[in-house]
Amino acid sequence: MWKAMWGLLLLLVLLACGVSCDEGGQDQDEEQKGPSRRGHITIVVVGATGDLAKKYLWQGFFHQYVSRVGKGHSFSFYGGGLSPDDQGTPRLFEILKSQTCPAGVSEERCALVKEQFLRLSQYRQLRSAEDYQALGQHIETQLRQEGMVEAGRLFYLSVPPTAYADIAERVNRSCRPPRGAWLRVVLEKPFGHDLSSAQELGTRLAKSLKEEEMYRIDHYLGKQVVSQILPFRKENSKFLQPIWNKHHIDRVDIVLKETLDAKGRLSFYDQYGVIRDVIQNHLTEVMTLLTMSVPKNLTDCNEINRNKLRVFSSLHRLEKGSAVIGQYQAYNSEVQLELNKTKDHFSLTPTFAGIAIHTTMPQYEGVPMFLVSGKRLDERVGYARVTFKNNVFCVEDQSSVTCKPKQIIFYIGHGLLQYPAILVSKNLFKPALVNSGWKEVTENQDKLLFGLPLSEYYIQTPMVQREAYTELISQVFRGRRDHFLSSDSLLASWKFWTPLLKSQEHTFPRPYPGSPSNANLLDFQLQGREVRFTTEALVNVIPQERTESFQVMHGKYRGADMVSAWPEELVERLAHDIEEAAEEAVLGGAPFHMALSGGSSPLALFKRLAQHHHTFPWWNTHVWLADERCVPPTEDESNFRTVHDHLLRHVRLPYFNIHPMPVELNQRLCVEEDGGAGAYERDIARLVNASSLSYVLLGVGFDGHTASLFPGNRLEARGERLVTLTESPVKPHQRMSLTFGAINRAQRVSVLVMGKGKHELVTQLSRIKDTPDRWPITKIQPANGRLVWYIDYEALLGQ
Ligand SMILES: *[C@@H]1O[C@H](CO)[C@@H](O)[C@H](O)[C@H]1NC(C)=O
Ligand SMILES: *[C@@H]1O[C@H](CO)[C@@H](O)[C@H](O)[C@H]1NC(C)=O
Ligand SMILES: *[C@@H]1O[C@H](CO)[C@@H](O)[C@H](O)[C@H]1NC(C)=O
Ligand SMILES: *[C@@H]1O[C@H](CO)[C@@H](O)[C@H](O)[C@H]1NC(C)=O
Repeated sequence: MWKAMWGLLLLLVLLACGVSCDEGGQDQDEEQKGPSRRGHITIVVVGATGDLAKKYLWQGFFHQYVSRVGKGHSFSFYGGGLSPDDQGTPRLFEILKSQTCPAGVSEERCALVKEQFLRLSQYRQLRSAEDYQALGQHIETQLRQEGMVEAGRLFYLSVPPTAYADIAERVNRSCRPPRGAWLRVVLEKPFGHDLSSAQELGTRLAKSLKEEEMYRIDHYLGKQVVSQILPFRKENSKFLQPIWNKHHIDRVDIVLKETLDAKGRLSFYDQYGVIRDVIQNHLTEVMTLLTMSVPKNLTDCNEINRNKLRVFSSLHRLEKGSAVIGQYQAYNSEVQLELNKTKDHFSLTPTFAGIAIHTTMPQYEGVPMFLVSGKRLDERVGYARVTFKNNVFCVEDQSSVTCKPKQIIFYIGHGLLQYPAILVSKNLFKPALVNSGWKEVTENQDKLLFGLPLSEYYIQTPMVQREAYTELISQVFRGRRDHFLSSDSLLASWKFWTPLLKSQEHTFPRPYPGSPSNANLLDFQLQGREVRFTTEALVNVIPQERTESFQVMHGKYRGADMVSAWPEELVERLAHDIEEAAEEAVLGGAPFHMALSGGSSPLALFKRLAQHHHTFPWWNTHVWLADERCVPPTEDESNFRTVHDHLLRHVRLPYFNIHPMPVELNQRLCVEEDGGAGAYERDIARLVNASSLSYVLLGVGFDGHTASLFPGNRLEARGERLVTLTESPVKPHQRMSLTFGAINRAQRVSVLVMGKGKHELVTQLSRIKDTPDRWPITKIQPANGRLVWYIDYEALLGQ
């Protein structure tokens, strides 16, 4: 009779809920009934000895068991894995034995319950279809032997998503419970990699499982504060209703910062990156909870789902400019090491992202929502912060309460507070407690949070802190699908994020050193609906051709073009570009006038030009020097000697086309009266049309000098003089050099920067905005020509 009634009740519930909805009522009603009829629940954890299961899942199941044992249900637990039983069994039991009871359970009872829990658990190898078949038979046999009614079967798939479809298929084929009992299969992220892969996974799963049988977990939804966002909004609607809109909300920040790096999980992380790892899912879920219309019925998963979908459908499409991305500096070498990559492997995976999202919903139009996450940042913290506009002008007393910032903060965890909490500025309103399990906080009133002492906030926190997984596992038992992702909203989220991910695929993330050295490097600001870093881009590379290997990157540096690559490829590219420029000049009927610098950086380039460029129009090329040390040209220190030995000696260049600087006249070196600089200047003026050299190759010294133009020289960027004598701080002190005027008149100027040692310099230069005398290189700004920086990855990234 009971059974018949239960069946009828279930039917009613199913009808009322339209099946795909939550089954919360079912379980609650159950709790009030006679204990004997509630039936048996089978729990199967696939991937039972993995990290996640070890850290969180078994704890969740054990707590469920502790709180439910003796209340009618009976249980059995299966830990499944790929290892054979004799290896898996001890591993599983080691994990199970280490589980602790929830607070408030006496030691005695805990020991007793754990003993039972262990007796009800067993390990099973779940590798082949036959293994699942055997499991299904085993469950049935056991239930039959003990004459038990079955309530349901819960499968928790804690395995890589690539295995989901196969497992689901086997579960459907051989582990489906009989009619009347439920099947719930919990799936862990990642659910795909982009829209099409998510769709594909969804289609495959739908062949074996019904939508209402799938519980796609986003553990962020189990965070206590996150799960109370909607109840908070509903509970305080009379205060929020007038201000929860674009007229009052200034901005919304949703932030998840980590101090850790990605080591240990790079084989996953490197394919996903920060946006897929935490933003597409966790932070996006928080955003929808903050902006969706509050459902009339907070447990109605259909209504929640509809409202969420409405949020997605009204978001402005993300463009490339909607995000800034970064990568902590050690990341690439960690990838090389952990994934056994060669030294020239280069990962573009972002470990930091700052994104601005806008919606067309009239209620929030124009309100920026910032989603930010990154690794190796200054603190571990998660929060969503809603800042309100303040239109009060405080003329004298800035400390009066009306002048203070108005904000509501959903403090998800860690960080300064170290506990989850909801905070409301006292100048907004006094919120009601979200539920009876929460309490007000009044401690540590002086601590500052976002510029305000805690005393300025109404703060509420859960009385007991619960792990998100424990919370969600309990919701699976209760059939509360409103705490899980629907297939629709998952796809909507991927649909929203995929265009951005695609547009960023070949973008070079800004390297950042990692806390505590990040300073303001990652700060970004809104511009229209886009964002950009507030400090000048160190790198922001967009490859011109989509080279799959990313061997050569093109980007911007100090507002000019930049080419970057590993040293060898960089030199190759530079040599190629010079040859192209030479050919272009010669085709136009003019000679190619190239000025070269000394130093060690261009040596590899000279060799390359000498050895590989047989088609170079040397016959029509003039070689000038950008600068010279005042030493006899036969000495090793002489720039001319370097250029001669490594290049000129090897190529067929007319003798008349070689123009060493006349540093040695009248048997003395660089004496003003001898007029060497003037003579060189006249040569240029005589041979080079409009004194505009075709190509000038420069380097840059640690002190910012270029050619032989040292810090503190008083030459003007656009002076008339072309050649000058200068003083170097290091020996030999006397130099002859092209002036800024000569260089800035050139048609092409390239600055070659190579080697790890130059990394500091590259970073420093990227932040200098104007053209101080202190940094001569900054004055290189060709008037009509083009400047290109050639910076190798070592100098760019310090690796
Ligand atoms: C499960 O398997 C049965 C056949 O055993 C099949 O008819 C059904 O379509 C499968 N999928 C679902 C969602 O039931
Ligand atoms: C809210 O929705 C749930 C699930 O659909 C349902 O069981 C419950 O009765 C609803 N509550 C109200 C007050 O409508
Ligand atoms: C890298 O090489 C080591 C040792 O050869 C090996 O143990 C490891 O599995 C490899 N890792 C990857 C990701 O290939
Ligand atoms: C010489 O330079 C001037 C001005 O830069 C230009 O107009 C002219 O075409 C050039 N002549 C040749 C032969 O390149």
